[in-house]
Amino acid sequence: MFLLNANTDFHKPLDQRDAETLGLAAAKKVERHLTFRDNHAETPLAALPGLAAEIGVAAIHIKDEGHRFGLGSFKALGGAYAVIRLVLEEASKQLGRVVDVSELQSPEVLAITRAMTFACATDGNHGRSVAQGAQLVGARAAIFVHSGVSEERVAAIARFGAEIIRVDGTYDDSVREAARVSEERDWIIVSDTSWPGYERIPGLVMQGYTALVREALRKMPEPPTHVFIQSGVGGIAAAVAGHLAIAFGDKRPVFTVVDPARAACIFETARAGRPITIPHGEPTVMAMLECYEPSLVAWRVLSRVADAFITVDEEDAISVMKRLANPVGGDPAIVAGESGGVGLAGLTKAVSDPAIKAALRIDERSRIFLVNTEGATDPGKYEEIVGLAPAAVAAKNEMGAEA
Ligand SMILES: Cc1ncc(COP(=O)(O)O)c(C=O)c1O
Repeated sequence: MFLLNANTDFHKPLDQRDAETLGLAAAKKVERHLTFRDNHAETPLAALPGLAAEIGVAAIHIKDEGHRFGLGSFKALGGAYAVIRLVLEEASKQLGRVVDVSELQSPEVLAITRAMTFACATDGNHGRSVAQGAQLVGARAAIFVHSGVSEERVAAIARFGAEIIRVDGTYDDSVREAARVSEERDWIIVSDTSWPGYERIPGLVMQGYTALVREALRKMPEPPTHVFIQSGVGGIAAAVAGHLAIAFGDKRPVFTVVDPARAACIFETARAGRPITIPHGEPTVMAMLECYEPSLVAWRVLSRVADAFITVDEEDAISVMKRLANPVGGDPAIVAGESGGVGLAGLTKAVSDPAIKAALRIDERSRIFLVNTEGATDPGKYEEIVGLAPAAVAAKNEMGAEA
């Protein structure tokens, strides 16, 4: 399914709050914070000339977030950053002066953070980021996971010393339970989705994601003309679209949001013209995108600056995982988890339909930007789908480099 943005807010400037959250000054602040993280390194930006030639565009660049902070997904940028910002705010309040990120490990600040507990609901990746952030600052983390989250993903969160709380039901049930328990125990919810009256912290999470856009723009020979970003609650799509709109104004790239057909809450919201909750259906292999309610802040941004919305099917997601693992035409091999290559699935779908291709004005001069939002965050599942272990796929590039 494909839809051009026909919302009444389309082309309106961003809401002032969102413009501040996703603007250039905010993105710079995020990048400064990152320099204080031990294992910080920019993630690679890969060019895919083989695929670009195959689908008839000038260039495709994909930012590979599978390498982010050893956590395997772009989510490493958001939750942990929000935790750090909240700790700094609390420390500033209690100490009566502005506390800088460089002071995070000082005894004075550590004494304050030890009394703080950060909580969130997660499909896997966001919880890992919040848990890592809490461990980094010496705080506690309580992570709520629904029944669909695999043991492997839960273990990857628990590794950061977080308390894991299992919740019967879906992701949305775990969001509600996290909110309820946190209210009772005075824990701080760091959610990647927002709801009425709860916008600021999800805004900080989205602000964290802007770092990947800055890094990519610095590396790309020319700015992109088209961007395809996958969505769960819409946070990363809104962060990328919002930041690009601020950075480029009228010259911003054509932006398409890609949803799994089985959990298309952003698509359906765009179709309805207002945030809506969609009914639960069959689970999707794109597990990290299985969300049934959009983030309100994300929708406020996307309704203004997303040009189009597209859905992809289960086999589309699987086929891009395999394609990225088995490249042709000189492209590097990329380990893309089940939700990682979905932007590429959206591009592939768009160019295979002449009407959509024309509507998006994609031609041989187009320069496409994509984000591989996760590597093999569930290695067992990855191997089951692709037929190769993640390490075997990564090793292809080393063999290519030696040849
Ligand atoms: C790997 C991956 N890709 C994409 C998304 C979608 O992000 P959002 O929920 O901000 O739309 C997620 C969300 O958890 C994710 O983990």
